[in-house]
Amino acid sequence: MDIHPTAVATCEAEIAMPITIAFDVYGTLIDTQGVIAVLEDLIGERAAEFSRTWRDKQLEYSFRRGLMAAYADFGVCTRQALEYTCLYYQTPFTSDQKRGLLDSYSSLPAFDDVKTGLSQLQGAGISLYAFSNGARRAVEVLLANAGIRDCFDGIVSCDDVRSFKPNPAVYAHFLKESGATREAAWLVSSNPFDVIGAISAGWRAAWLQRSGSAVFDPWDIEPTLTVASLGDLAAKLLTPAH
Ligand code: 2OP
Repeated sequence: MDIHPTAVATCEAEIAMPITIAFDVYGTLIDTQGVIAVLEDLIGERAAEFSRTWRDKQLEYSFRRGLMAAYADFGVCTRQALEYTCLYYQTPFTSDQKRGLLDSYSSLPAFDDVKTGLSQLQGAGISLYAFSNGARRAVEVLLANAGIRDCFDGIVSCDDVRSFKPNPAVYAHFLKESGATREAAWLVSSNPFDVIGAISAGWRAAWLQRSGSAVFDPWDIEPTLTVASLGDLAAKLLTPAH
């Protein structure tokens, strides 16, 4: 993957200065499309489309609640987005089926590259945090179920400041909680809104482009780094730029 011109100097500077990496969780470390297997049993071939709508509406609700200053736990956004998606697709799931889908959200799989990539970065002495809209408890359970909780020095939840990404307050909260300076902080996310939010807050940020068809928003703000996997990220952050 390409490396943004200014990132060359950045990476060299990073080699000298200890860095702290804040990893977004849903969609970056954890595959939210992991619910498709459960959905296929319920609605067959529309499962992938249903799952995508559910995820998009979950994020939309977090953005709307942030703008409205009408905070509710990210789990509420997830639950209400599921209700919306059932109405939209006219799928009258029972309460038990909905509960089963929501329960599956706490046991989603990590992407295949995650454990190895995190171990490489951890082995290099880099401070690693999970940084999510999800409430701390929910993220603890999710990472433990995915077998990656031990890769992190800590978890920072936007729930602490009763808002959501990309509110600048959540990036400031991360620095306060982790003790990292803005100059030493890197965000890693598959979500362009999160990368743009972090860069706008003065951080460096790597866009983890998990799909070749994923589009980065044309906001005249470029990722510091674009990578295809956590292995690619480790290679670029740990190898002095040539
Ligand atoms: C997160 O994990 C929603 O992906 C976003 O906070």
